This record gives sequence, structure tokens and C-alpha cells, in this order.
Amino acid sequence: MVSVEEFRRSQRAHGPATIMAIGKANPPNCVDQSTYPDYYFRVTNSEHKTDLKKKFKRICEKTTIKKRYLYLTEQFLKENPNLATYDTPSLDVRQEMLVVEIPKLGKEAALKAIKEWGQPKSKITHLVFITSAGIDMPGFDYQLAKIMGLNHSVKRVIVYNQGCFAGGTALRLAKDLAENNKGARVLVVCSEMMEILFRGPSEDLAGLVGQALFGDGAAAIIVGSDPIPGVEKPLYEMFSAGQNIVPGSDGAIRGPLREIGITTHLHKDVPLHFANHVEGILVEAFKPLGILDWNSVFWIAHPGGPAILDQVEATLGLNPEKLRASRHVLAEYGNMQSACVLFILDEMRKKSAKDGLETTGEGLQWGVLFGFGPGLTIETVVLRSFAAN
Ligand code: CAA
Repeated sequence: MVSVEEFRRSQRAHGPATIMAIGKANPPNCVDQSTYPDYYFRVTNSEHKTDLKKKFKRICEKTTIKKRYLYLTEQFLKENPNLATYDTPSLDVRQEMLVVEIPKLGKEAALKAIKEWGQPKSKITHLVFITSAGIDMPGFDYQLAKIMGLNHSVKRVIVYNQGCFAGGTALRLAKDLAENNKGARVLVVCSEMMEILFRGPSEDLAGLVGQALFGDGAAAIIVGSDPIPGVEKPLYEMFSAGQNIVPGSDGAIRGPLREIGITTHLHKDVPLHFANHVEGILVEAFKPLGILDWNSVFWIAHPGGPAILDQVEATLGLNPEKLRASRHVLAEYGNMQSACVLFILDEMRKKSAKDGLETTGEGLQWGVLFGFGPGLTIETVVLRSFAAN
């Protein structure tokens, strides 16, 4: 007979959680940011709002986004005109679309992650699902497990409506699950669509900023401890994970969900709040490693908007190449909320391998992942890289 203490120890993994594969997906419909103002004012029947259109054009230019993927097409808007106004009740039509499309896009990303992992899906023991687009019962986690044919014993958790920081939440949850359950293989899926907040223009200027920033995308990763040598190939290790509320930032980002869908409220001080707070978090997070030079680590920062990246870069004195991967994902996809940080991880390991660098973290050993979002809330994950090739 084993002692209770031995039994408890045998339930837990030995090593830290690792990310073993990454998959991503976007809807096929791609919009060009340079022509988006013309498109947006036309499809929302708002051509007469000429001053607003000029302002929207300026905002779109400042976003540094080149293109975004949106499920929403002109045809869909013609069939569902309530989405094209600013404030017509429209939650039903948004929900009907999202309850099908969010798990479907998540599945596309998950299948790619499983393919890279190279193991049968029957080995997935846990599922963490994140979205801020729609809500349902049973949840999107259940729907995904069903359409993917995961084991009936898969242990699911879903995090709804937390906004952009939740990519970090997903990693923090997956780390705890993997490290506290021997042999656990956690499928993490972040699936986001901006159709929950798409609306026509109005004098609500922060809302207009949201229309210029958000895009659709899903990303999935496989997380597990004690990778099987020669079978599973870890990309990043999770050293620690934490979450902080930014003091004095109450209400700086809000996204109330009402009959008209989600409206986005972004205070102009959002970038400043994040930038002023990150150094204290970094000092705490890297204390066990004795690291104080923020240019000596690799960076995965949620690109909520270019101003957030600019102010974090300036406040910490980061070299411009530190936020390259974050800026690249913002430019190529827009702000895909929780999915962004996983896209950035993917971009970084691929570019590192392509450039012949030693590690998945641009040749560096240690790195930081920041999720920024409503609260204001910051998720922080300290990562260790592996060999890039
Ligand atoms: N509310 C209203 N208007 C705003 C605004 C805001 N929060 N931020 C900028 N604007 C307006 C400015 O007043 C300006 O208008 P004019 O041209 O008439 O002067 C226009 O936008 C362009 O602004 P700037 O010339 O100052 O340009 P910029 O370099 O600041 O770029 C921006 C504009 C791209 C919006 C940039 O300010 C930015 O990146 N802001 C951060 C956006 C943000 O808060 N992102 C968080 C998104 S939410 C999220 O990620 C989490 C989630 O959970 C939903």
C-alpha cells in the first residue's frame, strides 16, 4: 500500500508544462485595411457621414494593420441589416452565427496543432477553450469536443468574455492542469470573431477605434509536462504564470454585452496604464532568475493597438526588434483578442528557425508573454525557449 503523500506525488508531473505544438486558422474572407474605410462606410449605408469617415480613415492608417480576416461579408450584412446600424437589437443573429462558427474555427486550428504534435487525439485529456464572442449552453468547449470526436472523459473548462488578456489566462490554466495531472495533455483553443462587436459608425469614437482594430482568428496549442523524448518536441516551457489588476485603471476598457452586441469602450490612457505598470511585474516575475535587463529576454506582447506596444517599448527602453513579432501579427491579422499571443509564439518560433537562430525565442533562453485587457488586467507568463530546429 502507498502512503497518501506518495499517492499525491504520483498524481503530479515531474517537470514544468511545455507547449508542444501550435496551430492557427482564420476565415477565408480577407479585408485590406487601406480600402476598409470605403468598404465599411458603404456596407453600413453611412457614406453621408463624411467627417466620421475621414476620422475613421485616419484611425485605420494609424493602426499599422495591413489586413484582417473577417467572417462577415457584404452578403451576410445584406441578409442581416441589423448588424450594419449602430444600435439595433441584433444579439440573436450574432449568437446564431457564433455558436456554429466559433467552435468550427477553433477546430480548424486544433486539427493543425494535433497534426504537428503527431499524437492521436485520444491522448488529449483536458480542453481549455477561450472566447469573447458569444455564449451558449452547453458551451463551445462541449461543441468542440463533439465535432472533433474527443474522448468523452476529456476534462473541459471554458473562459467566456474576458477579452484580450485571456490568451495568457489560457496558458496559466493549461500550466496548472499539466503540472498537477501526470500525463495530462491539454488542448488549448482560443477562438475569436469580431462579429459580436461589428456595428455601423456613430459619434462613439472609441467604438470606431474598435471597428478599425479587431479581426477574426483562432489558435490552438498542445500543453504537457515531461514530453516523451523523441516523440514529442517541446517549443517553449512555462516557468511561471501570474495575473495582476492595474491599480487606478478601473473602467479603462469596457465591453458590455447587450441586445445590440458588445460595444467597445477604450479610454485614451489605456496604453499609458499598461506601460506604467509592466516594469514592476517584470521585476517580480524575473527575480528568481536574476534578470533585470528587459532587452535580454524575448517578447510576446498582446498587440491591443500600436500605441500600447509603442508606450511599453518607450517606457522600458526596449530595442525596436523586441516587439517585431507582436507588430508583425498586428499588421497581418489585426487584434484577434486572446488568439494573438499564440499567433505571436508561432511567428517567433518559425522566424527563429528560418533565420538559423539557436532557440525558438530569437536565439535567447528566457522570454515574457504579456496578455493585456479589460480590468485593466495583465497576464504574465515567463517562458523558456528550446532549440529552434
Ligand atoms: N477613443 C477615441 N478616439 C481615439 C482613441 C480612443 N481610445 N484613441 C485614439 N483616438 C482618435 C484620436 O483622437 C485621433 O483622432 P483625430 O485624428 O481626429 O485627432 C485618431 O484616433 C487617431 O489618433 P492619433 O492621431 O493619436 O493616432 P495614434 O497613433 O494614437 O493611433 C490608435 C490611434 C491606433 C487607436 C492608437 O491610439 C492605439 O493603438 N490605441 C490603443 C487602442 C486600445 O486601447 N487597444 C486596446 C484594445 S482592447 C484590447 O486589446 C482588449 C480587449 O479585451 C477588447
